[in-house]
Amino acid sequence: MGEMVSTTTIAPSFLASDFTQLGREAARVDRSGADWLHLDIMDGHFVPNISFGPEVVRVIRPLTAMTFDVHLMCLRPEILLEPFVRAGADRLTIHVELGEQVMPLIWKIHSLGKKVGLALNPGTAMSCVEPFLKKIDLLLIMTVNPGFGGQSFIRETLPKIQQAFAWRRDLGLSFHIEVDGGINFETAAECARAGADVFVSGTGLFGQPSLTRAVQKMRRLVLANGRDLSISAPPMEFKETLL
Ligand code: DX5
Ligand code: ZN
Repeated sequence: MGEMVSTTTIAPSFLASDFTQLGREAARVDRSGADWLHLDIMDGHFVPNISFGPEVVRVIRPLTAMTFDVHLMCLRPEILLEPFVRAGADRLTIHVELGEQVMPLIWKIHSLGKKVGLALNPGTAMSCVEPFLKKIDLLLIMTVNPGFGGQSFIRETLPKIQQAFAWRRDLGLSFHIEVDGGINFETAAECARAGADVFVSGTGLFGQPSLTRAVQKMRRLVLANGRDLSISAPPMEFKETLL
């Protein structure tokens, strides 16, 4: 909280990278002109899949200065917060479905000096996140059911983005509105029109022949479709990098 939302943020999801080449992939995202690296942490309990842990985050940390946006799809995030902070996380997002754990987790993340995100699944009502809006730096609206990359965007989530945008404006808050799941060029533009400002994309970006060009194209599209251009930064120039 505090600063105005002033940028459009493109956050490639590392889950879609080539896991045989993690270091090379982190360096490739770094060169692509993307803003944040989105790191999906799955524990096999909160979601039916396991991804990677703090050690992977630690080894790629020296390869880039990008913001590490850690998305904890985990049943017991309290045991993981410190390890991920030590590993180099800049932002930590927990899920509102954890119920009474949510408020203590928000305090804990703040006490560790990190930005707090709160995520909600497609089936979870917006009323569940409403009590926390003043305490968070980012609201993550899941646009697929979490657990796997490469799923199709769930269109029914679009009104939630509009609701978040309206709440943020009406309450004078500045949390980011992040979308995650099935985000490609087309759905990113739709989410931008609805009011999103952080765009997580895995297969939508890594599936393109050039990550750099894909990031540029997504940025151009969301800037052109953004709901409130006064809070969007002008398009930035990026050096073309051969991949
Ligand atoms: C879904 C994860 C996403 C995932 C998105 O459980 O939270 O971040 O990596 O992947 P795509 O963009 O391929 O849907
Ligand atoms: Zn994610």
